[in-house]
Amino acid sequence: MDKFYVTTPLYYVNDKPHIGHTYTTVLADVLARYYRFMGVKTFFLTGTDEHGQKVAQAAEKKGIDCKDYCDKYAQFFNDMWMRMHIKYDHFIRTTDEHHRKAVTQALQKLWDIGDIYLGSYKGWYCVYEERFWTEKDLIDGKLCPDCNRPTNYIEEKSYFFKMSKYQDWLIEYIEKHPEFIKPDFRRNEVLGFLRKPLGDLCISRPKSRLRWGVELPFDKDFVTYVWVDALLNYCTAVGLWDNMSKFDEWWPADYHLIGKDILTTHAVYWPCILKALGITMPRTIFAHGWWLIGKAKMGKSLGNAIDPAALVNSIGAERLRYYLIRDMVLGQDATYTLDGLISRLNNDLPNDLGNMLSRVTNMVGKYFDGVLPAPNPTTDNEIIKLLTKAEGLSAKIKNLVLDLKTHQVLEEINSVIRAANKFIENTKPWKLAAEGENTRLANVLYHATQLIARVGLLLYPVIPEKSIQLLDSLGFEGEISLDTASEDEIIKPGSKITVTKPLFPRIEIKKIEKELGVETTEKIRTNDDKTEGLIEINDFSKIKLVVGKIVECNIAPKSENLLLLKVDTGEKIRQLVAGIAKWYKPEELVGKSIIVITNLKPVKIRGYVSEGMLLAADDGSIVSILMPDKALRPGCKVR
Ligand code: ME8
Ligand code: MG
Repeated sequence: MDKFYVTTPLYYVNDKPHIGHTYTTVLADVLARYYRFMGVKTFFLTGTDEHGQKVAQAAEKKGIDCKDYCDKYAQFFNDMWMRMHIKYDHFIRTTDEHHRKAVTQALQKLWDIGDIYLGSYKGWYCVYEERFWTEKDLIDGKLCPDCNRPTNYIEEKSYFFKMSKYQDWLIEYIEKHPEFIKPDFRRNEVLGFLRKPLGDLCISRPKSRLRWGVELPFDKDFVTYVWVDALLNYCTAVGLWDNMSKFDEWWPADYHLIGKDILTTHAVYWPCILKALGITMPRTIFAHGWWLIGKAKMGKSLGNAIDPAALVNSIGAERLRYYLIRDMVLGQDATYTLDGLISRLNNDLPNDLGNMLSRVTNMVGKYFDGVLPAPNPTTDNEIIKLLTKAEGLSAKIKNLVLDLKTHQVLEEINSVIRAANKFIENTKPWKLAAEGENTRLANVLYHATQLIARVGLLLYPVIPEKSIQLLDSLGFEGEISLDTASEDEIIKPGSKITVTKPLFPRIEIKKIEKELGVETTEKIRTNDDKTEGLIEINDFSKIKLVVGKIVECNIAPKSENLLLLKVDTGEKIRQLVAGIAKWYKPEELVGKSIIVITNLKPVKIRGYVSEGMLLAADDGSIVSILMPDKALRPGCKVR
């Protein structure tokens, strides 16, 4: 392999990064670092997706200019990546001038070859997901199947890309290139999707509805749809139509890393667009699973996102990198829990890796004045066993990286570290020292040192700073590379070995929970008997109560007692269904502020979806809706 080009999705700037975004970016960084480590010339691209209605609305809500808003949010991503020790080669923003220019050129080309036509679009549009749905896709005939938000029916003139024209070609391409979509079950999913006729892709929005996009070169009244714009970044970032020698150097991308949420756009739309433009296909589109909280996807939509900034403050970037890579089997979903995170980190890092390093450095310090002794030829069983376990570790790691089995990389390394700790326990260097068995003692510590150095090198792409701290304490002076990690003698005899501060001190669950503002489960448990029937403040705060403003209210057709309310709760307009028509007339409620629970699972009440519940009091004969006694804007928290 002569080069490696890896990309992450371009994240929407409608919110700050959460653990999900952090995962994909860390994964790309770890891969990029492994390829550089293997001596492969590497380009790692990430960035932000900045056009579109969602962003325009978010900016409007904050009362600032779209570009200023994007600058601010792109910076949040950039800052987070710096804090996570992400070393990208380029951070692209879809508002970058060179990118916008290339998108315009691409549209013109597609127009010139007749792959774009003017039609009209009828469909259900979800602003949040920036996409149209057909009626049969919708949940309960109204809600977006991806984010559960209400959609709007829209009929308007639109430009379309003739995607259907490429359907047969795409099926054949996917069938002939087993590495094109990974994992295999995702490939089958895409092929399954392609069994149905592929519709053409709506690529425009009228400027009357959305100005925040790239203008169509052949019709100034329209801007392009977010996917055509965003996907092209993978090419424009490496110089498409601008710096073709650079483009030829890097394109095709080796991996587009994405979450499974955007599989269709990447595995169907993108190849068709590339094919139409006459550009080579990327080598592999890899869709990983989701980080879940309980059974739900962690994300902005559900408001259950874990903030990486708080976690990094508390446990440090390198622990978080390690956890994310170690605990997600690539391709599958993984469940995030704080308990799981802490026990994983405490087991693998201080108990195994940290312990091994401190044992070796302390003993070389104590028995050899901190100077690594030279080995002697040996037939010692324990040493042979250790060498056998460590043998070929570098080659194994390389193969796992090439196979994208990143969690196994750490599993494999950790099993060798555990074997090394076992080796120390079995050979008991302190006993050898006491008994004056200096030759064996020197051999044991020499080989243990080589092993911890090898492990330190191989962990570099995952925990770069800690790896350097480890190698420094061993007096390592070589080059950080796979070749070095494959050498028998990584640390030369005579090297100065020093005891450093612990690499990864144990983390205390209580301290972390306090820092993160999470109540300890243990405390709740031990208090149970004295406080039966009482709840913790934490339980109460699970209920999200906000001020909502009723913007619309109607009696539900075919029912006398149900009111259908449209309530602005700050983040969106939601529908509530309430059995209060006996006590309130629709017109007396419109414009009123009420209190709404916003994180109830949506339910269907006589066929109507209710996305939350309003608070009302009931004395058996009168029902009274609770209303704040001062003017408060929608979305204010009730606590
Ligand atoms: O879709 N678990 O941007 P986005 C794992 N702008 N990964 C997750 C995740 C979770 N719970 N939540 C998010 C977009 N991600 C478009 C992409 S590409 C040209 C345009 C990660 O901000 C995962 O990589 O919604 C997912 O695909 C991506 O964030 C979606 O980010
Ligand atoms: Mg998303």
